[in-house]
Amino acid sequence: MILDLLNKRCSIRNFKNKKISSDIINLILEAGRLSPSGGNEQPWKFGVITDKKMIHQIAEISYNQSWIKTSPLLIVLCTVIVEDNRGGRSIQKSRFPRYKKEIDEIEKELYSYLNLEEHQTKIPGTHMEICALENGIYSTWVSYFDVEKVAKALRLPHNCVPSEIIAFGYPENELKLKDKKSINELTFYNCYVEDER
Ligand SMILES: Cc1cc2nc3c(=O)[nH]c(=O)nc-3n(C[C@H](O)[C@H](O)[C@H](O)COP(=O)(O)O)c2cc1C
Repeated sequence: MILDLLNKRCSIRNFKNKKISSDIINLILEAGRLSPSGGNEQPWKFGVITDKKMIHQIAEISYNQSWIKTSPLLIVLCTVIVEDNRGGRSIQKSRFPRYKKEIDEIEKELYSYLNLEEHQTKIPGTHMEICALENGIYSTWVSYFDVEKVAKALRLPHNCVPSEIIAFGYPENELKLKDKKSINELTFYNCYVEDER
């Protein structure tokens, strides 16, 4: 059951020196491929990094998070930027109508970087993480990195931006599960507070 898997999920930062088979990598990619996306645009590319030199380079670009070097597999979740004229800004303007003018004023490249589309890569990443776990592989998300340097290292085209990196591997040490808030703390039913905003 999926909750059994989620109950044992935790981030790890020390991986065994053991490769992940291409069969399992393909299952992980398949789990990502099946993700939902707005308008079924699937605005992403999955960069599969198994080359040790490149993994080391990405660890350095990720502000020297040296634990990343122990991972045998990084998947770089890249967002393919949706062109403005295909509705990129109108999505945000309809979500935040009070800021229509300000949204129009954001410079094009910066807007692309901040665009909502970027966050959609969290969905295939989550699918991948759970599928990996089903195969005994743990993972840790990385968002603390210099986006433009990663883009350069992976030779991405300009419309393709690295959103997140996930480091996968077999755990070397004992697992440590973190405390999570209770359902009561995290949930509200219907209205959050009684008074109107
Ligand atoms: C979007 C995202 C970005 C993250 N970025 C980093 C990171 O750059 N470096 C890191 O060591 N951990 C990173 N983490 C891992 C979190 O620190 C970790 O998920 C959190 O402490 C909860 O622990 P758990 O995953 O074991 O439940 C990130 C997690 C998420 C979801």
